[in-house]
Amino acid sequence: MNVVILAAGMGKRMQSALPKVLHPLAGKPLLQHVIDTARLLRPSKLCVIYGHGGAAVPEMVAKLATSGEAPIDTALQQPQLGTGHAVMQAVPQLDETVPTLVLYGDVPLTTSDSLRRLVDAAASDKLGILTVEQANPFGLGRIVREDGRIVRIVEEKDASETERAIREINSGILVVPTRHLKRWLAALSNNNAQGEYYLTDIVAQAVADGVEVVSASPAGEWEVAGVNSKVQLAELERRHQLNIANALLEKGVTLMDPSRIDVRGELICGRDVTIDVGCVFEGRVELADGVTVGPHCVLVNAHIGAGAQIKPFCHIEQATVGPKSQIGPYARLRPGTELGEDVHIGNFVEIKNSQVAAHSKANHLAYVGDATIGSRVNIGAGTITCNYDGANKFRTVIEDDAFIGSDSQLVAPVTVGKGATLGAGTTLTKDAPAGKLTISRAKQMTIEGWSRPVKKPK
Ligand code: UD1
Ligand code: CA
Repeated sequence: MNVVILAAGMGKRMQSALPKVLHPLAGKPLLQHVIDTARLLRPSKLCVIYGHGGAAVPEMVAKLATSGEAPIDTALQQPQLGTGHAVMQAVPQLDETVPTLVLYGDVPLTTSDSLRRLVDAAASDKLGILTVEQANPFGLGRIVREDGRIVRIVEEKDASETERAIREINSGILVVPTRHLKRWLAALSNNNAQGEYYLTDIVAQAVADGVEVVSASPAGEWEVAGVNSKVQLAELERRHQLNIANALLEKGVTLMDPSRIDVRGELICGRDVTIDVGCVFEGRVELADGVTVGPHCVLVNAHIGAGAQIKPFCHIEQATVGPKSQIGPYARLRPGTELGEDVHIGNFVEIKNSQVAAHSKANHLAYVGDATIGSRVNIGAGTITCNYDGANKFRTVIEDDAFIGSDSQLVAPVTVGKGATLGAGTTLTKDAPAGKLTISRAKQMTIEGWSRPVKKPK
């Protein structure tokens, strides 16, 4: 099958410099949703019609094309003279021996199941239209039937009063035998209220040529909902997020409130996972069995091991958290963080590009960057790895069972040996030997006979 995606419209009502089809829904451009769905149907040809927005649309498509197996073509529609004119731009690229499915770049949530049903209903010789009954069909093309059979589509602006009362609408998505499509497109005229070449006029031509016209309906109205404004984009975002939340619930994930979760990518959950309100998941996030995520956490491309607890207000990005670990509240794990089993990272602790082995703890107010930390290490409050000299970055190594006293600075490159102890307030500039107490601190003294100054009487 050929798939043509119409994405040339300007999207004026978005009030934005960004072309409409590039606005993100669930963190992914609208057009990419459509392309991803189209690819599930394994089309032999996939062509995106673009126009407004300059090179941005074809550039995005080119990027996607390199990430998938099948190529994606683009065709420029300039000027935009209607949906029929848009499909004409793809004609030279279409394979005549298979049907052509037309999708819209601004209708992101159609499921591949619904498209499959439409394509199956049309087989190789019929014209198939995805239609839906709408309480308020204003502005949309109406499906005109006679004795139950579709005879044509009439646009709102061209419709009579009786036709405007029809509630079955044209989603715009249709599938057509390609050899007929080419002929019918060539015969289109723009003699209508909008002076456009309407793709929908091919329906009457099909009927005149004795080609059967069939319809299929999606499972939900939202599947054919288009985005024309930020209001509609926000509505579809919530709908999509609710669908994702429901799918998670079906798989046994506990969501404290399914209307307060945002998944912008792929969230993979094991058994008995609990997610509290206000969490955002981006990229690919895996939560293993028994993980709990507290309220208002952001997880980006992360793996959280079985039984780990992520407490409220954590930010975790490109990081691995070992099983049974406890993170937060208010912890930040930056890219390259790899935590072993039962690691405790507490409030206002930032970890970057560091490995922390099993049972180690940094419970309060610390920065650990470019460090390799062994097992059962205790990092005191206020500890800082000074990994950057303003030009280059260096590593800190802390071996097993070391104890880092509070408010220590470890000036990298530096190593703390196995079982070593650093006294509180140490500024470590040379390696600390294993098993010994190292301390860098001015000796404490008490001044005898000193008295506190007092205010002079006025
Ligand atoms: C079209 C249908 C209408 C249907 C409605 C569903 C026609 C004539 N009418 O309405 O029956 O109910 O969609 O939303 O087909 N586009 C181009 N080039 C153009 C014009 C449009 O690429 O020259 C693209 C737009 O970017 C958009 C899609 O086609 O993705 C639909 O265009 P839009 O103007 O929103 O729809 P209508 O023509 O009003
Ligand atoms: Ca239009």
